[in-house]
Amino acid sequence: MSQPDEKSRPATRVVKRHALLVRLTHWINVVALTIMLLSGLQIFNAHPALYWGKKATFDSPWLSMTAQGDRGVTYFLGKTFDTTGVLGLSEHDGQKVVQGFPAWTTIPHLRDLASGRNWHLFFAWVFGINGLIYLLSGLISRHLQRDVLPSPKDIKALPRDPHLRFKFSKGPDSLRYHPMQRLAYSGMVVIVLPLVILTGLTMSPSMNAAFPGLLDLFGGRQSARSIHFICAVLIVLFVIVHVLMVIASGPFNQLRGMITGKVSVREDQP
Ligand code: HEM
Repeated sequence: MSQPDEKSRPATRVVKRHALLVRLTHWINVVALTIMLLSGLQIFNAHPALYWGKKATFDSPWLSMTAQGDRGVTYFLGKTFDTTGVLGLSEHDGQKVVQGFPAWTTIPHLRDLASGRNWHLFFAWVFGINGLIYLLSGLISRHLQRDVLPSPKDIKALPRDPHLRFKFSKGPDSLRYHPMQRLAYSGMVVIVLPLVILTGLTMSPSMNAAFPGLLDLFGGRQSARSIHFICAVLIVLFVIVHVLMVIASGPFNQLRGMITGKVSVREDQP
């Protein structure tokens, strides 16, 4: 029986890619954010409408989900959309239910604000402490400054980023973050994730008593709630693109890197 020709296989080597703390905090973050998103939708369903300002001006939400007869209706920035079956009115166990997001997207499934809050607030601690560990260890080891935060050179190189043209190297060039990755990752860890925590804290009455300045900073409780929701939408959009990029660039090697810390690199590519 003939053996495969060793020389025709591209030479690869296995190298260290992600530190243990980066991997641990990344996956804890994925679990915490998933549970917070789904329990957040449960909390949102208690009043599925968003406003700007200090008070809920009930006649002028910028986003609301409701039912009109047997139709689910979503109102967004002055426009009305028929969202029957998904937003406003959906089915659960064969029954029509009037609620913002459908039961299959919420934790717990059935309407239960108290349990939704318990899940959300417990994982908010996990998410906050985990995020602090990632940021502090990243600053101390200089992983953030060296590998993640974009430099002026990265910003200049952005239009030439091969990832924007879906070109992914499998060689040593894959061992660094490219400008678009740096912008997306730092946008998350420096802007969106801290903002979701701060606006969350702004909605807590005990935090209002301790730090009344937070309410002024975000223009009131309703604005803080709206910004909190917009951040959650941005996180979902980031995750969709992030996962698509992982799939496009070689999911097995990428996931292997984020799970075991090691990736294989081809010697015959840049
Ligand atoms: C829940 C939201 C998520 C956030 C906020 C997030 C954020 C990040 C960040 C900031 C990094 C860079 C970490 C560093 O080097 O310091 C990263 C890398 C990575 N993430 Fe995620 N991630 C999320 C979900 C996921 C999911 C669901 C997957 C699974 C497909 C995934 C797979 C990866 C992989 C493979 C890398 C390494 C990429 C590379 O080396 O080029 N992430 N993620």
